[in-house]
Amino acid sequence: MWLQPLFPLALGHVQLAPDPLDTAILLQEILRLRGEATGNPEDGCAWTGDLHGADQLHHHPAFAPLLRRLAKAACEYVSALGFDRSRVALHLQRAWPVVSEEGQGIGRHHHPNAHLSGVYYLTGDGSAASGCLRVWPPRQANELVPGLAVGHGGPFVSPDAATQVWNAPWWDVAPRAGLLLLFPASVDHGVLHNGRAEERRVSIAMDFCLTGPPGTKQAAEAEYLAPHPSTWMEVGP
Ligand SMILES: [Fe+2]
Repeated sequence: MWLQPLFPLALGHVQLAPDPLDTAILLQEILRLRGEATGNPEDGCAWTGDLHGADQLHHHPAFAPLLRRLAKAACEYVSALGFDRSRVALHLQRAWPVVSEEGQGIGRHHHPNAHLSGVYYLTGDGSAASGCLRVWPPRQANELVPGLAVGHGGPFVSPDAATQVWNAPWWDVAPRAGLLLLFPASVDHGVLHNGRAEERRVSIAMDFCLTGPPGTKQAAEAEYLAPHPSTWMEVGP
């Protein structure tokens, strides 16, 4: 017997090779943006720029070249999923730094404001110690009995969640400098606590939206796809 992996969730990986000096400049700028803050208001939560007025890094001169490169990869991800790029437009709407000091992480959440999300790591050596990105499956299609596969020691041969390929309760990805991950914005994810006192964990999170392409004719192609923002009319507040 063989098992066919039906309907897989697409976690995009792109490993860039950034110049360490360029990365050092970005790290310095992120710490400047963070200022005196050390985290978000919730206890143990990492500092996230979106809650501190730093969520438009793509308009920041120091970050714009990198974000253009990352956005290009996001376009490739959309193509890889089978979309006809001439019939959609991808927009980077938000990009913000995230800094985890020792003991800090981010709880399970998703990004309902967006269609596609990404994270780019400025630090990390590929080990889990500074805090993995944890991704939860949208649905446990192979769980058979609801509840068996949610990660509380279900009746599986292996106790290791990573080896439970067909009933994995989650998937962890260790941060590595230069690594870009892309995934649907509806997918629940979180960041495990940084267990390293000597290593600050720094990443840039991104949210993208798909709309119709420029031009009012094509923009009306499908009602579920918003027309291109160039056709919108601001009416408020
Ligand atoms: Fe997130």
